Amino acid sequence: MKTKVRSNWSHAVLVCKKCSKKLEKKGRGFGPDDKRLSAALKRELGAGKGRKAQVGVIEVPCLDICPKGGVVVIDSRRPQNWRILTPDAPFADEIETLR
Ligand code: FES
Repeated sequence: MKTKVRSNWSHAVLVCKKCSKKLEKKGRGFGPDDKRLSAALKRELGAGKGRKAQVGVIEVPCLDICPKGGVVVIDSRRPQNWRILTPDAPFADEIETLR
């Protein structure tokens, strides 16, 4: 069995799945198409599917921050600074640091 698997990811972006679902239920989304955050990030960051993507966008369980009206996001390059993205802020500006 293999013990290592290569990927093309430069970094990973962890997105709280529960936050995203809460906003989705309220009919709120991100990006020009009002999509769920992970889908919008994959599109905007050019992240495809799986390990051949340039950036990994991964939905994770609740991170125990639970902001109202936002989604908790962690950039693997800056794990000491968690971010809360809201649908009200300009999406392009919000994700600039995640590229
Ligand atoms: S629901 Fe997202 S941090 Fe708890």
